[in-house]
Amino acid sequence: MTSKNQIQGVAAQAPAIDVVIMAAGKGTRMKSRLPKVLHRLAGRPLLQHVLDTAADLQARKVVVITGHGAIEVEAACAGAAGAVAEFALDFVRQEPQLGTGHAVQQAVPVLADDGVVVVLSGDVPLTQSDTLFHLIKASGGTKLALLTLEQANPAGYGRIVRAASAGAGAEGVVQAIVEHKDASVEERQITEIYSGIMAVPAAQLKRWLARLDNQNAQGEYYLTDIVKFAVADGVEVVAYKITDAVQVAGVNSPVQLAELERAYQLGQAHRLMEAGVRLADPARLDVRGDLLCAHDVSIDVNCVFMGQVSLGEGVSIGANCVVANAVIEAGAVIHPFTHIDGETLGVRVGAGALVGPFARLRPGAVLGAEVHIGNFVEVKNSTLAKGAKANHLAYLGDATVGERVNYGAGSITANYDGANKHRTVIEADVHVGSNCVLVAPITLGAGGTVGGGSTLTKDTPAGALSVARGKQVTIANWSRPQKAPRG
Ligand code: UD1
Ligand code: MG
Repeated sequence: MTSKNQIQGVAAQAPAIDVVIMAAGKGTRMKSRLPKVLHRLAGRPLLQHVLDTAADLQARKVVVITGHGAIEVEAACAGAAGAVAEFALDFVRQEPQLGTGHAVQQAVPVLADDGVVVVLSGDVPLTQSDTLFHLIKASGGTKLALLTLEQANPAGYGRIVRAASAGAGAEGVVQAIVEHKDASVEERQITEIYSGIMAVPAAQLKRWLARLDNQNAQGEYYLTDIVKFAVADGVEVVAYKITDAVQVAGVNSPVQLAELERAYQLGQAHRLMEAGVRLADPARLDVRGDLLCAHDVSIDVNCVFMGQVSLGEGVSIGANCVVANAVIEAGAVIHPFTHIDGETLGVRVGAGALVGPFARLRPGAVLGAEVHIGNFVEVKNSTLAKGAKANHLAYLGDATVGERVNYGAGSITANYDGANKHRTVIEADVHVGSNCVLVAPITLGAGGTVGGGSTLTKDTPAGALSVARGKQVTIANWSRPQKAPRG
C-alpha cells in the first residue's frame, strides 16, 4: 500500500452519516390540508430544506419518517430529492404516531450499525450544515451528542439536566433530558433546552430504542429517554450548545412560518449586501432560489427573485419586479413593475437593455444588447437583435426580430392559428407602424416599412413600403344628418 492510499484509508474511517428525518406529525396548528412539512419557505418545501442539509452533510442514507399525509410527502420529496441528492432515500411509515422515540424506532430496520445517526425534524428548516458538522464531531462516532441552547422562556421544551458542576465555570455532565410536562418545579427552572437534534452512534441508538417505554406524562415513547440509558451504560453524553435559535426553530403555525421566512430572507439580504449589492431595503427583498449578482447591482424595494437568476455588473432592478429564471446582462435596467419569468426555457436580457415599466418577458425571450421593451409589451419565445425596440402596448410571440427594428405601438404577431404556432421574421431595420397585425408565418424583408393599421398575411419585400388597410376616402363638404325638429 502506498502512503497516499494509507492517508485515504484513514480518512475513510470517519463513520458514515445516516440522517433520520421525523416528518410524521400532523401540524394541526397550520390549519391546512397540506402536510406541514410541504409548506414552503423561500419557495421550497420545509422538508426540502432539511433534505438539502442532509446532502450538504454528504449523508450516506436519509430515512424520512412519514405518517400524516405520507403519500403526498413521499411523492413530493421523491421527485425533488432524486435530482440533487447523492444519498439513498428511504421512507418508513409511522402509524399511529406514538412519540419521537417510536418514530425513530420505525427507522431501525433500514439503518446500518456502523454509522452515526443524525436525527432531524422535517419542520425545522434552517439548521446550518456547519452546526451539524460540529455536532457530529462532538459525537466522535462514540458519544451521544445533543444540540442544545439557552432559552429565556424554555416552557414546552425538554430540559437538559446536568450533574452538579465539578468546579467554577464548568458545566456538570449531562444526566438526562426531562420533558416539560414531566419536569419538576426545579427542573422547569433550567433554561438549557434540547433542540430536537442529536448525533448518535447507530448501534447504541438501536439498543437504547429497544428499551423505551411510555410511562410518562404524555404516554409517549420519548426519544429523549435514550439519554438516561446512555448515562446508565457509561456512554458519554455531550451537549453542543449554540446561540442562534433560528437554526433550531420549528414551524408549527403560519405565524412561525412567516417569522422564519423573514429570518431567512434577512440572512440572504445581508449576504447580498456583503457581496456589494445595494438593496434599497433589506427587509423588502425575497429570494426564492439562487440570485447571483456581479458588482454594482442595485435592487429597489419589493422585488421577488425565483429559480436561477443572474444579474450582471451594474444592473438596476426597479421597485416591485418579479424575476424568475433569467440572465440579465451588464448595465441593463429593469424598470418598476416588470414581470420576467423564464420558467424552463429561460429569459436573457442583453447588456444595456431597457425593460419596463410594466413589461412582461415570458419563456424564451432573448433580448440582445440595447434592446428597449416598454410598458405593456409582452415578449414570448422571441429573439430581438441588438438595438431593436418595442416601446408600447405590443405582443411579440415566436418572432425573430433583426437589429434596429422599430416595432410600433399596439402591433401584434398573430402567431397562433387555433391549432399551431407559427414564426414571424422581421429582418434588420424594418419599421413596423402602430396597430399592425402580422399573421404568421410571415417574413418582413430588411429595411421595409409597414404602414400603421396594416394586417399583413404575405411576406413583404426588402426596402418596400407595405400597407394593407382600407383606403382613406374623402367626401368634400359633407353635411352630417340632422335630428328632425319636434312636433
Ligand atoms: C421534542 C423533544 C423536546 C425538544 C423539542 C424541540 C421529545 C420527546 N421531545 O418535543 O425535548 O425540546 O422537540 O422542539 O423528543 N414526530 C413524529 N412522530 C411522532 C411524534 C413526533 O414524526 O410520533 C415528529 C413531529 O412531526 C416533529 C418532531 O417529530 O417534526 C418533533 O415532535 P414534537 O411533537 O414537535 O416534539 P416536542 O414534543 O415538541
Ligand atoms: Mg415541537
